Amino acid sequence: MDEATYYRDHWVEVEPERLNAYTEMFKWRPEMEPLLAAADLKPGQTVVDYGCGPGGLALELARRAGPSGHVHGVDLNAEFVGLARKALRDAGFGDATTVHHAMDDKIPLSDASVDRLICKNVMEYVPDIAATLAEFRRVVKPGGIAHIIDSDWGMLLVEPLGHAKLSELFEAAKLAYHTPHAGRMLYSGMKQAGFANVSVKILANADTRGHMQLVLHNMVNYAKIGGRIDPDRADAVLAEVRQSIADGTYMMVLPQFLVTAQG
Ligand SMILES: C[S@@+](CC[C@H](N)C(=O)[O-])C[C@H]1O[C@@H](n2cnc3c(N)ncnc32)[C@H](O)[C@@H]1O
Repeated sequence: MDEATYYRDHWVEVEPERLNAYTEMFKWRPEMEPLLAAADLKPGQTVVDYGCGPGGLALELARRAGPSGHVHGVDLNAEFVGLARKALRDAGFGDATTVHHAMDDKIPLSDASVDRLICKNVMEYVPDIAATLAEFRRVVKPGGIAHIIDSDWGMLLVEPLGHAKLSELFEAAKLAYHTPHAGRMLYSGMKQAGFANVSVKILANADTRGHMQLVLHNMVNYAKIGGRIDPDRADAVLAEVRQSIADGTYMMVLPQFLVTAQG
């Protein structure tokens, strides 16, 4: 494991159980609607889903763009690309979608060619946020919209772990994120990339049932792989979380920055 590139390597190769868990976790659910509202998606649009993963969001975007539109998924991981292609084909959107395998942080489309660019939970992993935002700016048509949804790991809460224990865990896991505080950087970043009418909203839901446990499991695995935490201590954290879910004292909050701007 190379610590310097792990933020990327753990997406280039995703272990089978993480792959299956992601396919389930990244499915579009109706309660996620507020995440997309500002993107103003309409039939007939050409839409990019940057970092599309196994295609859950791309499928929803294809439903909205309809047969007269086109959705371009882009991802670093070859297996996600295959899964997204299959999910879109199986749902009848094969002709109205293209999924690109891109390892070079570029979008294989021409300048000013897309009406909407959506990017959800990817920016903390790209090697150069400014370069990726410039790439988004390049492909969005004048008057088109780029809509980025992302976390800021400095705003993560997991109770009843408390600040000190969570910080210790995140410190050990942070090699998995190139820019853990990406969320707070997007507003100024989009302005600097030349977008107009940049707006920002923060949405925060409290998970009290354990739906977001996978996020914590991943964090513990990253910390263990990096050898930066005593494995027994990491497992004790997970056990504490499981117990808190059982006794009803658990709460996890990971606010999402929604940054919307015009090309
Ligand atoms: C947390 S997942 C989010 C997936 C999807 N956007 C969603 O929210 O359902 C991050 C995704 O970004 C992809 N990714 C990471 N770094 C990337 C890069 N530099 N270029 C393109 N995709 C990247 C990963 O392969 C993975 O599919």
